[in-house]
Amino acid sequence: MADIVKIFDTTLRDGEQSPGASMNTEEKIQIAKQLEKLGVDIIEAGFAAASPGDFEAIKKISEVVTKSTVCSLARALEKDIEAAGKAVAPARFKRIHTFIATSPIHMEYKLRMSPEEVVRRAVEAVRYAREFVEDVEFSCEDAGRSEMSFLKEIIDEVIKAGASTINIPDTVGYRFPHEMGEMIKELKEFVGERAIISVHCHNDLGLAVANSLYSILNGARQVECTINGLGERAGNAAMEEIVMAIKTRKDIFGQIDTNINTKEIYPTSRLVAAITGIEPQPNKAIVGKNAFAHESGIHQDGVLKHKLTYEIMRAEDIGLDRNAIVLGKHSGRHAFKERVRELGFDLSDEELNRAFQRFKVLADKKKEVSDDDIRMLITNELSSAPEIFKLKKLQISGCSAGVPSAAVTIEHNGIEMTDAGIGDGTIDAIFKTIDRISGHRGRLMDYQVSAVTQGKDALAKVVVKVVFEDGKPAVVGHGLSIDTMVASAKAYLGALNAYLSMGEILERRGKGNGV
Ligand code: KIV
Ligand code: ZN
Repeated sequence: MADIVKIFDTTLRDGEQSPGASMNTEEKIQIAKQLEKLGVDIIEAGFAAASPGDFEAIKKISEVVTKSTVCSLARALEKDIEAAGKAVAPARFKRIHTFIATSPIHMEYKLRMSPEEVVRRAVEAVRYAREFVEDVEFSCEDAGRSEMSFLKEIIDEVIKAGASTINIPDTVGYRFPHEMGEMIKELKEFVGERAIISVHCHNDLGLAVANSLYSILNGARQVECTINGLGERAGNAAMEEIVMAIKTRKDIFGQIDTNINTKEIYPTSRLVAAITGIEPQPNKAIVGKNAFAHESGIHQDGVLKHKLTYEIMRAEDIGLDRNAIVLGKHSGRHAFKERVRELGFDLSDEELNRAFQRFKVLADKKKEVSDDDIRMLITNELSSAPEIFKLKKLQISGCSAGVPSAAVTIEHNGIEMTDAGIGDGTIDAIFKTIDRISGHRGRLMDYQVSAVTQGKDALAKVVVKVVFEDGKPAVVGHGLSIDTMVASAKAYLGALNAYLSMGEILERRGKGNGV
């Protein structure tokens, strides 16, 4: 009989706290559906009290996800718990995850509360959460720096109040694996069968996965993690690494297993990268571009003779299909629709038609359209920022020798407007010209460009962060094209559109459409 460790995915909550990773509702729904397909036990869909957008996203996810438990985070406050309870109400399986800090430094300086008050607040929060759901998780924030005697005291009380999962976060990523293991062992002995012990490890010292694995070996039966290790600061423990470590080292983990369908790991990783615009580093374990690539002749020779000479896992086991058939300009609607479905997207007829048109435009420019290209086309379409300003034409001139200039045509309210301008560089010229045409002046805070697919005709993805008005938050825009300058113009316009739609989609990102 397998001894199951529950996988609690917090990509949509802690993962979204990665700088630049905010997602809109439609994007979160697509990720949640894919997480369900992956076999995640609990999806932390957000923090309901954080914003109306978060609340809405959790509610919608609760309506569509039926196999995984849907969870909302809540501080130990009545209003947070109420929002969480209402947001997860439609879910078939629902959980409220409430937390309060338990370390001396957090209690004294952040909460300004005595330990007694903290215990009282935690108990009240759990009791109140139980009025909305049966499944309540309690987290001792900064448990990694909390005192064991206090942890036992508060844990005892919240279990009596009705918490069935006790989460031990190493909030600041401070612990070493052996320390984490010892802490979990002692807490497991203390809690016994009264509740499940969970861990939530941050990666500040690069130890999040190691700490999670040592916790499992010492009795934790839930791990909180994210796809691609996204998360606050240095991120959370990467789900794919935890799951594949357990699968690969059966000699260490014995009967311990997870409910994850590992063949969905790679597609999930790609979807999250496409939606957030945050690519895993190339040498990232399991899902990085180089994770299964053998560069040296000796390694290649060995792998050709016998795969296990240099591979401890099979690429197929994580769903990395190196021989996947690529689509091209002769591929029809049916083949495209099938591929979109296989990639895990659930599109309406209208969305599919739009995506297919964009696929055709891309296939005309590119010989081969890869799965990553298709993911990009679709995720780019999911943006809810309306295209108030739309790029129609772009012409640039004057690289190293001449004066960099750009001629831009933008459509707004059905009218096409054209202007041209110069700048310190080509991108500066493009952005300044857009400012002049639109009448909105942006201050560029960040500009990033990456090739999201491979080859000379790779799709370029540009992400910009722009402030359009002092005192208003920066907006993020994404642009996609096989031409980096076009992608830059689209990203900038995406940010402008997000800014203009800010009332509805505050803090969400806008995207340039088209290819
Ligand atoms: O890192 C942390 O402590 C958290 C808690 C809210 C679980 O994210
Ligand atoms: Zn966290």
